[in-house]
Amino acid sequence: MSHKILILNGPNLNLLGTREKSLYGQATLADILNELQAYAEAQGIELRSFQSNSEGALVDAIHEARSWADGLVLNAGAYTHYSIALRDAIAGVGLPVVEVHISNVHAREEFRHKSVLAPVCLGVIAGFGRWSYFLGLDALLRHLAEN
Ligand code: DQA
Repeated sequence: MSHKILILNGPNLNLLGTREKSLYGQATLADILNELQAYAEAQGIELRSFQSNSEGALVDAIHEARSWADGLVLNAGAYTHYSIALRDAIAGVGLPVVEVHISNVHAREEFRHKSVLAPVCLGVIAGFGRWSYFLGLDALLRHLAEN
């Protein structure tokens, strides 16, 4: 069975490639999504992606995913650290979610060490630059293959 996955990106990730390059790298979000798309297509996986800077739009995207997706790879940006609304949406839809971060949030400011989303996610991948998305997708696909 071919899986359908949502790659969901939160606030400021539309600025990738121009934003704090020493932390987040040179690749734009479009670069990363194109590479991921090719990677997924080669495996017969259908990827859809969505980015928003608004918490409500991200909550809506998680709700909508319930009707078509098998799971999500989520970089919630700063919302990771305080959005109870996103946490409740993830718990509410019951889809498997892998939380990803480009930077190693544990090597940064203390307020980035806490994720309010992690307890309702399958797991967390952080610190591997744009490869965090690929590792997150792999982890999700392995989980889906076994469940
Ligand atoms: C981030 C880490 C967050 O702390 C930060 O607010 C971001 C990006 C990452 O991918 O490393 O916006 O999620």
